[in-house]
Amino acid sequence: MPLQSIYWKNGKIVIIDQTKLPKKLVYKTLENINDVAEAIINMRVRGAPLIGVTAALGLALVAHKHRYDKRDKVLSELHEAAETLRRTRPTAVNLFNAINSVLDIAEKSSDPAKATIEYAIKMMNKDIEINKKMAEVGQSIIEDGDIILTHCNTGSLATVSVGTALGVIIMAHRLGKKIKVYATETRPKLQGARLTAFELVEEGVDAYLIPDTAVAHTMKTKGITKVLLGADRILGDGTLYNKIGTFQIAILAKEMGIEFYTVAPTSTFDLKSSRAEVEIEERDAKEIIYVSECQIAPETIRTFNPAFDETPPEYITGIVTEYEVLYPPFEESIKRLFNKIREER
Ligand code: MRU
Repeated sequence: MPLQSIYWKNGKIVIIDQTKLPKKLVYKTLENINDVAEAIINMRVRGAPLIGVTAALGLALVAHKHRYDKRDKVLSELHEAAETLRRTRPTAVNLFNAINSVLDIAEKSSDPAKATIEYAIKMMNKDIEINKKMAEVGQSIIEDGDIILTHCNTGSLATVSVGTALGVIIMAHRLGKKIKVYATETRPKLQGARLTAFELVEEGVDAYLIPDTAVAHTMKTKGITKVLLGADRILGDGTLYNKIGTFQIAILAKEMGIEFYTVAPTSTFDLKSSRAEVEIEERDAKEIIYVSECQIAPETIRTFNPAFDETPPEYITGIVTEYEVLYPPFEESIKRLFNKIREER
C-alpha cells in the first residue's frame, strides 16, 4: 500500500512530517491554522497537490472550531485563515486553487462550516482517485526497457497518496514493466535523496540516486530514454513551473533527443496568469549555507536560492493529466481539455 501523507482525524489534521524522513516516519498533528501555515512554510508537507489539500483541510480546521458560530462569523474566520495560507508559498497554484474553491463552496452554503469540512475531506479523498487515474493514463508513455530520469519528489509524499510522475513510474513497476530509474538528489532541500529514494526503495524499483550535477553525464552514459517529473503550475500555453533544476534538465533532454514529460493533475493548471504574474519562491540562505546542521559555506556569503524555475513549452514532449496525455501545440490541447471538462460538468 502506498503511504498516505495526510489525514483528517476528529477535527484535526495528521500529517507525515516530511522533514524527518528518511530517518524516521513521524506523524504530527496540526491543531490550528498557524500550525498548518508553519507546516507548509517549513515544508513538513510539500509538493503542489499536497499543499493544496493541506490548505483545504486547514480551512476545515477553522470551520470545525467555529462550527457553532453564526454564518457571518464562520465566513469571516475562513477568509482570514485563507489570507494566512495565501502568504505561505507563492508558486504552487494548487494552494490558491484549493483555497478559492473551498471559499466558493462556503460562500454558497447556508451552513459554511459543514460545507467546508465536507468539501475539504472530499478533496483529500479525490486526490488519491485522480492520482490513480493519472498513473493509469501515464502507462501509455512507459515502455519495457525505459530508463527514466526524475527530479524532486512527485510520489505519495507530494500528494495525499500515489503521486504524480512517481505514481506513473511506480505503477509501471508494479505492472511488471522493465524500467530503471535515476533520481536526482534535488539540492538544496534534497527531496530526491530523502523522499524519492525512500519511496523507490520501499517499492523495490530498480533505482539509482545521482547528484544534480550528474544529469548530463547520466543522460549520455546510462541511456536515459525519458524524463518524468511533476509540476507546481502549468500555464495555458504549457509553460511549466517546477522544482529548481527542471529547466536545465529540459534543455539537456532536448539537446540529447530525450522525451520530456510532466505529470500533473488539472488542479495544477493556471489558465489565468501570464508568465510575468507568476512568483517564483526564493527561500532562506540557510538552506544552501547549511546541509542539515552542518555549515558548508561562509555564513556571510550572499545567496540566491530560488525554489522553482520556468520551462517554456517547446521543451515539453507531453503533459500527463488524469484525463489524457496532452501534446503540442499545448495552447490548443489544454484549451480543448478544459472546454471538455466544463461541458461535462
Ligand atoms: O518545494 P517542493 O518540495 O514543494 O516542490 C515540489 C515540486 O517541485 C514537485 O515537483 C511538484 O510539486 C510536483 S509534485 C506532485
